[in-house]
Amino acid sequence: MAVPSEFIDELVARSDIVDVVSDYVRLTQKGGSYWGLCPFHGEKTASFHVVPDRQLYHCFGCGKGGGVISFVMEMENLPYLDALRLLAKRANLEFPEGDVDETARRRRGRLLALNKEAARYFHSQLWSPIGEEGLNYLRRRGLSKGTLTRFGLGYAPESWESLINTMTQKGFSKSDLLEAGLAVSNKKGGIYDRFRDRVMFPIIDLRGDVIGFGGRVLGDGTPKYLNSPDTPVFNKSRNLFALNLAKNTKLGRIVLTEGYMDTISLYQAGFDCAVASLGTSLTADHAKLLSRFTKEVVICYDSDQAGVQAADRAIPLLEKTGLKVRVLRVTGAKDPDEYIKTYGPEAFGRLLDRSENYMEYNLDQLESKYDLNDPVQKAEYARAAAEMLARLDSPVEQEVFAAQVSQRTGVGKDAVLQEIKQARNRSLRAAKRKQDRRDLTPLNQIQPRDRQLRYDNPRSARAEEGILRLLMMDSALIGELTGLEPEDFSSSHLGHIYDVLRSRLTAGRSAQLGALEGELTPEETSLLAEILRQPANLAGAAQALADYRAVMAREKWKGQADVDEATLLAARDTIRKKNQIGDGTP
Ligand code: UTP
Ligand code: MN
Repeated sequence: MAVPSEFIDELVARSDIVDVVSDYVRLTQKGGSYWGLCPFHGEKTASFHVVPDRQLYHCFGCGKGGGVISFVMEMENLPYLDALRLLAKRANLEFPEGDVDETARRRRGRLLALNKEAARYFHSQLWSPIGEEGLNYLRRRGLSKGTLTRFGLGYAPESWESLINTMTQKGFSKSDLLEAGLAVSNKKGGIYDRFRDRVMFPIIDLRGDVIGFGGRVLGDGTPKYLNSPDTPVFNKSRNLFALNLAKNTKLGRIVLTEGYMDTISLYQAGFDCAVASLGTSLTADHAKLLSRFTKEVVICYDSDQAGVQAADRAIPLLEKTGLKVRVLRVTGAKDPDEYIKTYGPEAFGRLLDRSENYMEYNLDQLESKYDLNDPVQKAEYARAAAEMLARLDSPVEQEVFAAQVSQRTGVGKDAVLQEIKQARNRSLRAAKRKQDRRDLTPLNQIQPRDRQLRYDNPRSARAEEGILRLLMMDSALIGELTGLEPEDFSSSHLGHIYDVLRSRLTAGRSAQLGALEGELTPEETSLLAEILRQPANLAGAAQALADYRAVMAREKWKGQADVDEATLLAARDTIRKKNQIGDGTP
């Protein structure tokens, strides 16, 4: 990655975090910093904190944090370089494209061009004698010519090399074909077409580029659907089939289905808001992506057990992004495609309008676990339901669903509301206890929020954090740290941050969090943001640094069994002397 670091420094200096965040989040100033509703998780009270002095953001709710670049990466779901490009545009700076890893960019461009040509080829086959069977199949499934064109569906001939031959004639190489996942290599070093005798569904991203394919057998063969593998341009867990179309819907919601055919059927029936994940279950990235284009998602999976389970997994992921989630269950058909064929678009439209709020869905799911004819179980159900409704923040919603539970059970509505209130109190108390415990956590038990980054030696890590915090606040302090090496840090992550910071500072470059992000892992960036949020005092900084180093040295030597206290004290003195810091005594 060869974006000149001077450019990044300049970019970060010109991209004030408060300005940038304000493009997405309404911020309110309190004292020297700003608060707003976290854009990364659904919340009703502001726990998203932006600190202009340190050019960082941090959410107390979900723990996300970082500088201006990682904010844009998270917010726009962009890779690092694209986030830089976006910020550059915003700051009216010309992005030094020429310096970016040209080969990687060209490679991507080539794969996209190849995919586009391949899609054209597959599509053209539908209208040729070779593709007759494919066309017949799609027709049998009720797709109109308009739909075939809209989705660019196609047919891959029953041949081992028809695509390879056509594409090589157009100037693409074997390695292009392999890398795009369109060809597979055999043991003898030759290659053959991956998709043979299948109808082809091109997968198109938000920019309109063909990034991959799904291919369905015409008969009962396996696998039923064959998908492109992940490639430099195709990532299943970040893309959704037909989102390029659904993002423009006027229907005010997006319908999430399980399959290509469901999505296409819905589209043809007038519901241009359907998408499908690509033979994988829904991921957090998918959820985030959806939340950029709609406020409400209707889950419309297959009616079988697997579909119900998949919906259960998808609901919390979607909810976490602040999306309103509903579940539509098709009854009397195995999936939405079959439902529309059997009952018609109007019937589906009615289902869609009536689609349950996920709370109703949850109540149904819960109800199926109890026998409501049994008085004891009925009471248990009412209590469990109240517990669930206690998660609703809106009193109006609590009312509405309490009435439903009351109807289902015959337990009075007021009694249900009372249960809800008690459940809420219980969870408030639990949250308070948790907070208290956190406040009482001894200093030396500090741990990063991110569970991937555990501290082996929290006492030392605490000191290491302190050093980084001071250093970020006053670059000149690097002069106090002669002899301190990244290896001296007990936490390799903190050591790495120190390493990056030190080389920047000694080169006289910006040490703003935003400028560091490209060199740190996302976990380290978050960690650093968290460290910087904590208060520090520059008065007496030199002394503090010396103390921190003494702690680090002591902790390091404590690990080596045979060091006695005297040695430790001597070590501490040596460090102090080395740093020329007096504490008043000669
Ligand atoms: P289904 O088996 O429900 O297929 O798989 P479908 O969408 O109803 O397809 P038709 O109507 O039989 O043609 C749902 C989705 O799971 C993925 C595909 O994305 C499919 O659309 N899948 C399924 C695969 O990736 N591979 C398979 O072998 C089967
Ligand atoms: Mn299906």
